Amino acid sequence: MKIGIVLGTRPEIIKLSPIIRKLEEFKNNDYFIIHTNQHYSKSLDSIFFKELNLPKPRYNLGVGSASHGKQTGKMLEGIERVLIKERPDIVVVQGDTNSTLAGALASSKLGIEVAHVEAGLRSYDRSMPEEINRVLTDHISNYLFAPTEVARENLRREGIEENIFLVGNTIVDATLENIEIAEERKEEIFEEDMLEVVKGGDYFLVTIHRAENTDNRERLKGIVEGILKVGEYYDKTVLFPLHPRTEKKLKEYNLWDTLKNKNIEILEPAGYFKFLILERYAKLILTDSGGVQEEACILKVPCVTLRRSTERPETLEVGGNILVDIEKGDILEAVDIMLKRDRNWRNPFGDGRSGERIARILLEGRNSPLEDKI
Ligand code: UD1
Ligand code: UDP
Repeated sequence: MKIGIVLGTRPEIIKLSPIIRKLEEFKNNDYFIIHTNQHYSKSLDSIFFKELNLPKPRYNLGVGSASHGKQTGKMLEGIERVLIKERPDIVVVQGDTNSTLAGALASSKLGIEVAHVEAGLRSYDRSMPEEINRVLTDHISNYLFAPTEVARENLRREGIEENIFLVGNTIVDATLENIEIAEERKEEIFEEDMLEVVKGGDYFLVTIHRAENTDNRERLKGIVEGILKVGEYYDKTVLFPLHPRTEKKLKEYNLWDTLKNKNIEILEPAGYFKFLILERYAKLILTDSGGVQEEACILKVPCVTLRRSTERPETLEVGGNILVDIEKGDILEAVDIMLKRDRNWRNPFGDGRSGERIARILLEGRNSPLEDKI
């Protein structure tokens, strides 16, 4: 069984790592990785290959940043060229980025089966590029690896009945596999001052990068003001590892200087080990990231999601997360609610064996004996 894996961004590298690990373990020597290079900065790309000890991609397409059409078009062209040469039986894509859609579309047009990891997530907000990517990818996929019951039901409601596999989310595997390694290495990962802050656990952690927040000046301004308000009200440090997209937009909108505040500490985008530790010890996480909402829930750290909707409603249902639309909601109230909650919610994303389930189904066929239980 020849498997092609298409990836391009930070979360795809992280969430595909447990599947790649299993393909290696099961001695499938016939798989290969195509990296679109949608992410190319060291802090969003090569650091994760290194930390997660992943094999080098056989193909780097060097696509980089561009408008949606241009970026996706370049990916399609590059992926198609490789697939015609390699002719894999199945192509695996993950999540909801432009790399995901390009991988799925190029494969399906060549008659190659598509396996979508993290199928069935829906925010029901079609203004998000991610929603378009995930809906389209699901509808041309032959294997739909749904992480939760909610995701499986979303697919069924859209008329997809066949080939859905409830497998859990590989983010659980990645978190459990790496958190203890990160813990062991934290003395070498952090500078002394930062290590003290982290160990003290008396800080908020923030990540923001989604287009819906960064590409609208008023929303981004509202988020910056909200974060400042939280830092000031609780008089605590706010650690803010900054995605390059957000840095660019803060500067473009003349909001950069507003972040110069005694409570706010801007950091480079963190490597995975560093970020897991920052999450584990945080008092609370404020984010718009999909993966970070999941990790906060798994690590039992309260989360406030600065968005109008989430495609991870399970995190809200179990009590680990709350949504705040920055234009309407009260960020301080949301933070207060979450800080008062007991951290005894259930992890809704599975048992950490999703990578194994997916690899077995891909290698052993659709009737792999692994239980359909997470
Ligand atoms: C992409 C995904 C988003 C995902 C995120 C993960 C799409 C449409 N969006 O968003 O769903 O949550 O990845 O982090 O696929 N840049 C760099 N270095 C890089 C990559 C990007 O500096 O290595 C900067 C560039 O200025 C670029 C901007 O970030 O224009 C945005 O990059 P892009 O690939 O368009 O999307 P992301 O915001 O990273
Ligand atoms: N992450 C990281 N360093 C950071 C911020 C995030 O390693 O500074 C990791 C995080 O642990 C999670 C993933 O990146 O696994 C989430 O990716 P991102 O927020 O970029 O995208 P999304 O999940 O929203 O698509």
